[in-house]
Amino acid sequence: MKILGIETSCDETAASLIEVDDKKIKIINNLVLSQIDIHNKYGGIVPEVAARKHVEAIIPIIEESIGNNKIDLISVTQGPGLITSLQVGLQTAKTLSYAKHIPLVGINHLEAHLWSFKLTNYVDIKLPALGLIVSGGHTELILIKKMGKYELIGRTRDDAVGEAFDKVAKLLNLGFPGGPIISKLALKGNSDEIELPRPMMHSKDFDFSFSGLKTSVKYLIKENPKINVNNLCSSFEQAAVDVLTHKTFKAASKYKVKSIIIGGGVSANNRLREELKNKALKFKYNFYSPEIEHTGDNAAMVAYAGYINKKAASLKSYKKLTAQSNMKLV
Ligand code: KG4
Ligand code: ZN
Repeated sequence: MKILGIETSCDETAASLIEVDDKKIKIINNLVLSQIDIHNKYGGIVPEVAARKHVEAIIPIIEESIGNNKIDLISVTQGPGLITSLQVGLQTAKTLSYAKHIPLVGINHLEAHLWSFKLTNYVDIKLPALGLIVSGGHTELILIKKMGKYELIGRTRDDAVGEAFDKVAKLLNLGFPGGPIISKLALKGNSDEIELPRPMMHSKDFDFSFSGLKTSVKYLIKENPKINVNNLCSSFEQAAVDVLTHKTFKAASKYKVKSIIIGGGVSANNRLREELKNKALKFKYNFYSPEIEHTGDNAAMVAYAGYINKKAASLKSYKKLTAQSNMKLV
């Protein structure tokens, strides 16, 4: 079946067309219009500006994505995200569904991130599995005992890990978003030169905390204005990766999972990918990560999540779907 995915939860206007069945997946197109250059000027995302830019971009990008194709299903991000951004994508999807009589399904953005590896590695994974979702707004460990049944076993108690990358980059005047910039500078630094804490690494639960780590960086900069930025980036990245990796494998062992999945913007981080992959190999877990191009927000992952949830799709969804800025996966 051919599925149109629509994603506007944050600052990317995205539309994608995929063709998928139980045996294969084909990404016909995956269009992403980033607003980063606009928000960069403000050092972060300005919701009002994001929504206006979505309004300008949404129709042309959907038209281009559909082309001459016949669509069997429309899949749209319903939440979580910025409410005014979500509404642009959702209202457009509802209108299209109503006008063209195409079934519509609303998708949780985190579920879309979780299965984004499937866009290029279309395998059935062994269950139970553990999912680590790391993005600008979320840091969650999800246990999957059965397909589509999720259990939240850990989450951040304050900042999301991507948010911590962004805030540290802001403290260092490096620009936005911080993750890609920090990880690039970290390559030139040495993480042993500067000591940083690993908050909650040895706590008994599977929760995270990244705001204290960011505050430690803030004080270090205040006390040493000439601090080596590359070393600081490397130390910060290593501290964040250590905590994520430690908790993920502690959970994997406790819940006796067979597979570990990673997804979300921060899963583009090379150090995180490598450390998870190597440890998974060592302790004999199957490990799945999305291609780098599918780690950030995109609509192909939303289209695929629509395939997983196709039973929930209906011609009447347009009457009842509402945007949910705090939508939970579990
Ligand atoms: O999933 P995403 O594109 O948007 C949300 O749903 O939040 O994630 C964006 C986050 C940002 O905080 C960005 O700094 C972070 O992902 N990020 C990275 C890297 N690339 C993007 N963090 C660490 N290392 C990276 N290479
Ligand atoms: Zn995202």
